[in-house]
Amino acid sequence: MRTAIVYASVHHGNTEKLVKRIAEECQVDLIDAVKQPDADLSSYDIIGFASGIYFSKFHQSILGFAEKNLPDDKKIFLICTYGGNANYKSIEQILDKKHSKVIGKFGCKGYDTFGPFKLVGGIAKGHPDEEDIKNAVKFARGL
Ligand SMILES: Cc1cc2nc3c(=O)[nH]c(=O)nc-3n(C[C@H](O)[C@H](O)[C@H](O)COP(=O)(O)O)c2cc1C
Repeated sequence: MRTAIVYASVHHGNTEKLVKRIAEECQVDLIDAVKQPDADLSSYDIIGFASGIYFSKFHQSILGFAEKNLPDDKKIFLICTYGGNANYKSIEQILDKKHSKVIGKFGCKGYDTFGPFKLVGGIAKGHPDEEDIKNAVKFARGL
């Protein structure tokens, strides 16, 4: 069973903290969609998409990657970090078109200093913390 996680983590590396630990503890290949906008995913049985939430969406690099490179009929899981709320809609719209089956979703808070939040020292400071990271690994193991 081969698993890949395609991720984007451009704000504070919050999402990267989760996927790096998952890759250390589980058999998973990581693909940074910002650095590598194309990859052949056909040999993977399960594919994860992981991202911070930017303007209520997964990062544009993830959405573009999925549009372009995700084969039809794959098993998918989703991971996000967010300052306010999780939002999976942007990626799910693409997954629907590809007849993907979403087998799990995991989200947790991630340190956010965007816009006015910077003035107050940011929100969700310290997240993802060790507990969040452990929960993400538990989620990945349970898939
Ligand atoms: C430009 C920008 C827009 C954001 N928009 C949202 C948003 O709409 N909803 C939300 O909950 N968090 C939002 N955030 C906060 C990020 O989702 C959060 O900090 C996330 O953990 C960033 O992940 P990363 O460090 O892996 O990039 C935004 C952050 C930035 C920089």
